[in-house]
Amino acid sequence: HNVAFMAGQVGKDGYRHYMEKELHEHPVAIGQTLQRITDPAAKKIALPALPFDAASVPRLTISACGSAFYAGMVGRYWLESLARLPVDIDVASELRYRDLPLADDGVALFISQSGETADTLGVLRRLKEAGQKIVSVLNVEHSTMGRESDLVLGMVAGPEISVASTKAFTAQLSVLAALSIEFARSRGTIDSQREESLTSSLLDLPSRAAEALTRGDAIRDLARIVAEARDVLYLGRGICTPIAHEGALKLKEISYIHAEAYPAGELKHGPISLIDRTVPVVAIAPSGILFDKTASNLQEAKARGARILAFTDSKGAKQLEGIAEHIVVMPDVDPFVIPILYAIPVQMLAYEVALLKGTDVDQPRNLAKSVTVE
Ligand code: G6P
Repeated sequence: HNVAFMAGQVGKDGYRHYMEKELHEHPVAIGQTLQRITDPAAKKIALPALPFDAASVPRLTISACGSAFYAGMVGRYWLESLARLPVDIDVASELRYRDLPLADDGVALFISQSGETADTLGVLRRLKEAGQKIVSVLNVEHSTMGRESDLVLGMVAGPEISVASTKAFTAQLSVLAALSIEFARSRGTIDSQREESLTSSLLDLPSRAAEALTRGDAIRDLARIVAEARDVLYLGRGICTPIAHEGALKLKEISYIHAEAYPAGELKHGPISLIDRTVPVVAIAPSGILFDKTASNLQEAKARGARILAFTDSKGAKQLEGIAEHIVVMPDVDPFVIPILYAIPVQMLAYEVALLKGTDVDQPRNLAKSVTVE
């Protein structure tokens, strides 16, 4: 109802689908979101006051559903590595019934575009009753979750009509990145120089995101191969693993092609048995400390006949030349912001495949924008 109402007001602005329009709104969604939570002149994070002492929080519990859950997975990597904060995370439908030990003075973090997802709301209420402080990262701030939280960190993504989430995901990540820097500063795990360089890399993102949107031709080369497949394997490592999951989820949702995401190192413990020429492998593989390991996993997949399709940067592209059949070369950025940037072409790939399959991109079968039942 809410979505239909908004759809009546928000046009497609000449785009074929809301999803296409919303993909093009990544730069604006990231930029507007950051504008609200940073001080660009000082290159500092400027979040609203937190309702707890970030320096002494013993543990953070994150919960969400769908794409928002993958944003949370990325957030965990940032919070652990930058702020040295112990984090637990689970999908809401599981966490709701898990009998997990909670820390006194613990904080619970919820991520939701709509602020109405029943499973996420269920966990929020349960953890609130258990005495945890509740922080929510929401696009619809005046939602049920918004009203029941101690603090709402708003994204400024604008209305998202397409059932499959796009710009809300990068806006969520932008908020989580800022929150991670804030925790790190409070906990004394980064100095002000590092805060400035991390914040600069965030503020640079709208331009890099706009650049990512120009990779359509290369992405269509991948799409033609993926569209022919029945099964597709997405691989990533470390902070790119959640982006592999986001890619596989998006492909399933709108093109109805079966896709699985795996941490690349886990390939040998099972999924490699599925590999042959008919199962394309999509790698999220920017250069960096884990690159060589991923490259050797891709080599193993190629040796078993797989067609390798890769998202990487200019340095990674040179090293993957003999391994990958098609490469989408992404702009070079600070490793900190890689998951935000790489989410964009991964979502674009799903969109291009859906176009080739002729599916109902904005309203995929059996799915709802906001799931308010358990
Ligand atoms: C549905 C949508 C997904 C979304 C998930 C969580 O399954 O189809 O795109 O990621 O709900 O929604 P939320 O509003 O809580 O972010």
